[in-house]
Amino acid sequence: MQTDQDPQSNLHISTLSLSSAMDLVHMKSFSWGVSSSAYQIEGGWNADGKGPSVWDTFTHNPGSIPANSNGDVACDSYHRLEEDFYMLRALRVKSYRFSLSWSRIFPDGRLTSLNQKGVDYYNRLIDGLIAYNITPMVTLYHWDLPQALQNLGGWENREMINIFNDFCDFCFSTYGERVQFWMTFNQPHTIAWSGYGLGQIPPNVRNPAIAPYRVAHNLIKAHATVYHTYDDKYRKSQSGLVSIALNADWIEPKDVNVPREVVAADRALQFKLGWFAHPIFKNGDYPDAMKWQVGNKSELQRLSETRLPSFTEEEKSFIKGTADMFCVNHYTTKIASHATLRLSPQSYAYDQDLSEEDEVDSPTTAVSNQRAVAWGLRRLLNWIKEEYGDPEIYITENGVATESKTTWDDSMFSLDHLCVYVLITAYDFDGVKVKGYIATSVMDSFEWLDGYKVGFGLHHVDFNNPNRPRTPKYSAHFYYQVIKDNGMKY
Ligand code: NOJ
Repeated sequence: MQTDQDPQSNLHISTLSLSSAMDLVHMKSFSWGVSSSAYQIEGGWNADGKGPSVWDTFTHNPGSIPANSNGDVACDSYHRLEEDFYMLRALRVKSYRFSLSWSRIFPDGRLTSLNQKGVDYYNRLIDGLIAYNITPMVTLYHWDLPQALQNLGGWENREMINIFNDFCDFCFSTYGERVQFWMTFNQPHTIAWSGYGLGQIPPNVRNPAIAPYRVAHNLIKAHATVYHTYDDKYRKSQSGLVSIALNADWIEPKDVNVPREVVAADRALQFKLGWFAHPIFKNGDYPDAMKWQVGNKSELQRLSETRLPSFTEEEKSFIKGTADMFCVNHYTTKIASHATLRLSPQSYAYDQDLSEEDEVDSPTTAVSNQRAVAWGLRRLLNWIKEEYGDPEIYITENGVATESKTTWDDSMFSLDHLCVYVLITAYDFDGVKVKGYIATSVMDSFEWLDGYKVGFGLHHVDFNNPNRPRTPKYSAHFYYQVIKDNGMKY
């Protein structure tokens, strides 16, 4: 892609009309952004002294990912920062959400292994964004744990709390004067459940009955520790907001007239979002639904070893309130119905929340189990508003994937269109305090277990071309228009 022309000229469109007879809804001080994460886009997996992460180890093991693909080169953003700036400027985004590769900065994860070239890469990225008036939103941990720390047991080891805090402290002191948004973890539920329960993603531990609860306990404490570090050392001299990017599908009861199905849907939400949000945004402790099912009060608890650990009173006050805004990644909606308690060890591990989930009758996307259900976003936002005391909310990821290799994919565009539509409805009609929307993602990238088979990008990337050219899709044109109007006519 050329970088020496006006980037906006690429995205001007006359064919796309969003006008209607109704008013344009303007979003007040709203942050329209796009997302990425280090392992998905950077490549340069061992460039300039970077150490291996668990994702390097996993993807280099043949058979892990379709076509044995990996993030060794990905979009090559490590060598193509200027091209990334070009895309972001073309879209006119207000913010860019990206993550730091821990093992690029500290190859073995510890402060003693500092890699200045890795530090400088993010200096260039942050400085470039600021020069273009784009606010950096930094995720401190987006799944790529330094392999050396996994060798210590990863997030099952409670020493990780202090090791992660040291890393974050370094990032605050190095980049913090230029960064206004920090997220400690991306999708802690995925880290705990997919990484240590189902064993699908690194470190591929398959121990659904016990390990996710221990891991989540450490993640929550690590998050709170980092938040307090920011408060104690940087709050006075820097103007950052600190939070955690949680993830939640909307869960709709199968039949709203059947009380136990309504309860089942709520329980499923508590097990997914509430697991982390309840301690951080409510009272420092796990939701009752979890304590009844997998904690001390549980029937199963008497039959098995401890599953849900408990926080001391001191820990509860340490954890409560450790977020400056509510960040949520949202992709799809599921239908829940009640499931009867089954006592065999094999089944209880999976039916932990006693809610059975089903798919909604909505357009499919390229990711299995991810139907595009725009109305679910509105309900989720309202649920968060009610459940957590009307916080300011940032949708830190939302988007639709297709398998299409074309850049003018109507289906993806129309689904993106619907998501923005419901977002504006929640803001305008329901009074939800939505402050930002980060579209996933700025460009097609390494999509974890799906490799390069599916693309969430607003830009298509040609992964067969060593230059990795980025080309805007129809959805990029649409999003450009939304940002330009700071809203949408509906
Ligand atoms: C959530 C993850 O945070 C992100 O990295 C990924 O691209 C999206 N899900 C889509 O699968």
